[in-house]
Amino acid sequence: MLHLTFRQLSVFEAVARHLSYSRAAQEMHLTQPAVSMQIKQLEENVGMPLFEQLGKKIYLTEAGRELSHYSRVIAQQLSEAETVMNDLKGLQRGRLKISVASTANYFAPQLLAIFSQRFPTVTVSLDVTNRQALLAQLANNEMDMAIMGQPPEGLDLVAESFMENPLIVIAPVKHPLAAAKKIPLARLKSETFLVREQGSGTRIAMERFFKQHGVPFQAGMEMSSNEAIKQAVQAGLGLGILSLHTIGLELETKRLKVLDVKGFPIMRHWYVVHRKDKRLSTVAQAFKGFLLTEAKQILGH
Ligand code: PGA
Repeated sequence: MLHLTFRQLSVFEAVARHLSYSRAAQEMHLTQPAVSMQIKQLEENVGMPLFEQLGKKIYLTEAGRELSHYSRVIAQQLSEAETVMNDLKGLQRGRLKISVASTANYFAPQLLAIFSQRFPTVTVSLDVTNRQALLAQLANNEMDMAIMGQPPEGLDLVAESFMENPLIVIAPVKHPLAAAKKIPLARLKSETFLVREQGSGTRIAMERFFKQHGVPFQAGMEMSSNEAIKQAVQAGLGLGILSLHTIGLELETKRLKVLDVKGFPIMRHWYVVHRKDKRLSTVAQAFKGFLLTEAKQILGH
């Protein structure tokens, strides 16, 4: 019979997920020695080492890997129990854990601000990451819901669109094509494009678009944020294809120009996405309803 405590198991689950004592400690608001102590006691209870350290990195041992399957399921069940308990208390004390694609960062905080004004006692946490990381989080059931572009096929997900997401071509204001009308896509063959990182939804949509139209494009520097691309375009390093939602300020202050290219905007949508079997808390349901009925109007898109 295994004599282990929930505490040990949840500390183990966090260390196994991060493969880092310090990150687990941070997440659990514990000190690193406290985390090491819990793991040491758990290893004594189990009678085998669960982690091994090679150089600076830690790895799960075979026993650790086996135990991590169970600890993950137990952690999910516990968090579900917590959700159900909070539900019984209604919208008064819930938590909302949202992850958004980096591009949605340009409007999600505004929506969360309004939502939290309505429900001031709800604790909201927002994680901003790219599409690929979002998919991993959905697969691991790490948040209530995600806001992302094109939801993936395969995973058992519910995805509902709540707003359009037009992608446009941006150029420096003095670009030779800045004033041109109805520029044919093929004319852009000779231009260099700054591109988002692999795994970005914007990048995938852009590549697909050029491919569908049989036009090759020249990829210049690769950058992992919309901000970096905007700066690089302003500096004259090339053109960019970004969501219209990222460039509100630059258009207002006339630092960037949207080129009038035939076939643009590439019309995508924003979706609110969660696992099909996810038990949405009252708070999460309220937030989803809020997105679907009010987001578009609030943001004026
Ligand atoms: P991203 O945007 O490029 O920041 O991943 C998400 C998306 O448009 O799908």
